[in-house]
Amino acid sequence: MNVPLLDLVAQYQTIKDAVMPALQAVIERQQFIMGPEVGQLEAEIARLSHAKHGIACASGTDALLLPLKALRLEPNDEVIAPAFTFFATAGAIHNAGGKPVFVDIDPGTFNLDPAAVEAAITPRTRAIVAVHLYGQLAAMERLLLLARRHNLVILEDAAQAIGARRLIDGEWRVGGELGWAAALSFFPSKNLGAWGDGGMMLSQDDGLADRLRKLRLHGGAKQYHHEEVGTNSRLDTVQAAVLLVKLRYLAGWSAARRERAARYDAAFAGHGDLCPPKVDGANEHIFHQYTIRAARRDALGAHLKAHGIGHAIYYPTPLHLQPCFADLGYRAGSLPATEAATGEVLSLPIYPELTAAQQDAVIEAVRGFYG
Ligand SMILES: Cc1ncc(COP(=O)(O)O)c(C=O)c1O
Repeated sequence: MNVPLLDLVAQYQTIKDAVMPALQAVIERQQFIMGPEVGQLEAEIARLSHAKHGIACASGTDALLLPLKALRLEPNDEVIAPAFTFFATAGAIHNAGGKPVFVDIDPGTFNLDPAAVEAAITPRTRAIVAVHLYGQLAAMERLLLLARRHNLVILEDAAQAIGARRLIDGEWRVGGELGWAAALSFFPSKNLGAWGDGGMMLSQDDGLADRLRKLRLHGGAKQYHHEEVGTNSRLDTVQAAVLLVKLRYLAGWSAARRERAARYDAAFAGHGDLCPPKVDGANEHIFHQYTIRAARRDALGAHLKAHGIGHAIYYPTPLHLQPCFADLGYRAGSLPATEAATGEVLSLPIYPELTAAQQDAVIEAVRGFYG
């Protein structure tokens, strides 16, 4: 049996009767820019994320870039970030005029190691980008302490973690709730994916939210009046309409992902060098990815391919070793936990529509590799 890594067509079949009328309504109205669905989506996602403000924009990349631009970074201002993440995390720092300072990860959760963050803070540090990789939150309480002590802001890259939760001081806190600002992505493969590109910024800060609303509209609250130079980064009304419908399914989808993760965990326990993903005890994971570690990762990947099992490597090259960042001076060996992860990770199919029979085929193929 062939099992794809992700099956958006299967998802479409389950939601099309709900989405198509919503889409049709936008088309009939012809208000494609900043229609009422955009504000409604902002309000609903802000509520879900315990944030005061949601500001929709064109992509998760822009949702990182605009808050960083709002910081008005000076040349050589430093922004600390993991190197084990999607490129946008660091690309946005560069494009906002800052210098990415890459630090190592916790090898269990793949998220920022707070001790490494602390060691990297200098007088030039302005911000920390905390990525919630694969769908579980970084150790926010420790990063917030550091930020407070050193007068830094935290930008949460919650592109993979919409609605993910962490128990802090006995309270469930949600991805995007605790940072100075946060970025969500609605890239189609995300847990809440649009039918095209899309993103959203979150913040509790009224002044920052006002600026972000302007920055996505060429820097002006009033038409043809520009207080600063922004850009065109809006979420299309058609995407907001799709997302509003899909949002009703999100909690169920995340629960379905957790169920499939538990089934994999049970099936893989004690299989050779295969290490199922580690979930920090304080976290409720949303399993945007189910990512295992395997010492013989490439051989396992070839075996899965031969058996028709979709899989992917997120991410094969760490950001500190990307050619575009060569002038930052990192070398192989600079970030050992990150580099080890890039050689061992492999993500398996985990979408809500994955059937038991499909998952059995994945499990059988993985176990087959280990004899
Ligand atoms: C961790 C992370 N940050 C940022 C992004 C950028 O989001 P987008 O593709 O919507 O621009 C993504 C998704 O692709 C991501 O996974």
